[in-house]
Amino acid sequence: MSSPSENIHVIETAPHVYRQRFSVPTDYSVWFSRDVFSVRNPLLARSLSEGVPERPHRVCVLIDAGVAAAWALLGEMIQCYAHHHSTRMLLACPPEIVPGGEDCKNDPGLVTRLQQRLVDLKIDRHSFVIAIGGGAFLDLAGYVAATTHRGIRLIRMPTTVLAQDDSAIGVKNGVNAFGMKNLLGTFAPPHAVISDFCFLRTLSARDRVAGMAEAVKVASIRDRDFFAWMESNAARLRAFDDAAVEHLIRRCAELHMQHIAGGGDPFETGSARPLDYGHWAAHKLESLSQHDVRHGEAVAIGMSLDARYAELTGLLPAAHVERLVSLLSALGFALWHPALEMRCNGAGLALLAGLQEFREHLGGQLTVTMLTAIGSARDVHEIDHRRMQQAVEWLKLRSAGG
Ligand SMILES: NC(=O)c1ccc[n+]([C@@H]2O[C@H](COP(=O)([O-])OP(=O)(O)OC[C@H]3O[C@@H](n4cnc5c(N)ncnc54)[C@H](O)[C@@H]3O)[C@@H](O)[C@H]2O)c1
Ligand SMILES: [Zn+2]
Repeated sequence: MSSPSENIHVIETAPHVYRQRFSVPTDYSVWFSRDVFSVRNPLLARSLSEGVPERPHRVCVLIDAGVAAAWALLGEMIQCYAHHHSTRMLLACPPEIVPGGEDCKNDPGLVTRLQQRLVDLKIDRHSFVIAIGGGAFLDLAGYVAATTHRGIRLIRMPTTVLAQDDSAIGVKNGVNAFGMKNLLGTFAPPHAVISDFCFLRTLSARDRVAGMAEAVKVASIRDRDFFAWMESNAARLRAFDDAAVEHLIRRCAELHMQHIAGGGDPFETGSARPLDYGHWAAHKLESLSQHDVRHGEAVAIGMSLDARYAELTGLLPAAHVERLVSLLSALGFALWHPALEMRCNGAGLALLAGLQEFREHLGGQLTVTMLTAIGSARDVHEIDHRRMQQAVEWLKLRSAGG
């Protein structure tokens, strides 16, 4: 029999130091489906037992209020589904409706109320939270699940383009605090992700477009064929053609998953964050506009600014900037917001403070991803404020048709 210290891989390196080392494999499925709450669709019930013993699992279902408003019968359907699949799923209470949208990430009281609710319902680490909603709601619900009992199993059911193609398939959650985006949060892989394309039917025109920014982002830095596919299919995407949108979501999700698993830094301990292309400006613009701009809309603007900046510094040929900005415009993005021009006490652009905030959020050295061509990127560690201001002025002129 091996000794306890061998079992837990404690390495004695010096008389006064024990070095601890272990790794925890991470493994979860991202499903794409339709009519997930039809009793004939066993996917959710099966997912509850994936990798854990098969028995009736206690579940608390939380629904984004925006989704609940659009799908009036959703709560009843879920109860009916749980009844039909009672050998695997036991509702701790009827599905609960919780505020969604960016406001839900700005309300610390909501975090506490949800944590309290899970405790009252006796949802423990062997129970599940199933969160159904947009990216903001899933960030909130994920944070609540990850912090209560130090981690309750979470199944995410994203209902927006952005949540299905990006935010729900990763390992992060979080809420905004002290005027900063995503300041409080954890890295917590979900138990499973189930995307139901049917939910997208009720999405506003604005949110349909906004979620495509993350696909343009990941294609710009990683996959020029996917970028070219979006260029060729921009009219279908703009018209929200089902097949085109589903392809966009699946390819975008796949590229994000590949990066998280294969990029060598799933929990972002380093300073580089290529998937945050365009995001330093996006996060600041979201705050400056008091969340008048959706995340995806801000990312589209942030990418355009950084592309023009890259051109001004000789990193990116002008033709590639034009392709990026043209694709975003063809998809329906407005690439300007007045908050881009806000000043700090009458001095420099308030937007530029976003660079320092981005650095602080990542820790370490300032690292901003810049395109060198459509489909490839590199990191830079310094940003010339004067040139970035020129990029802002250019975007304003271009958006005004100048
Ligand atoms: N965790 C991550 O890795 C990550 C990555 C990218 C973005 N995000 C976050 O995602 C958030 C943006 O998410 P979003 O773009 O999904 O917006 P959102 O969550 O704000 O949703 C937009 C609106 O649509 C409503 N809604 C959601 N689904 C609906 C449906 N099917 N029908 C009708 N209405 C519906 C919501 O109630 C909300 O009012 C931001 O907070 C951003 O920071 C997180
Ligand atoms: Zn993003």
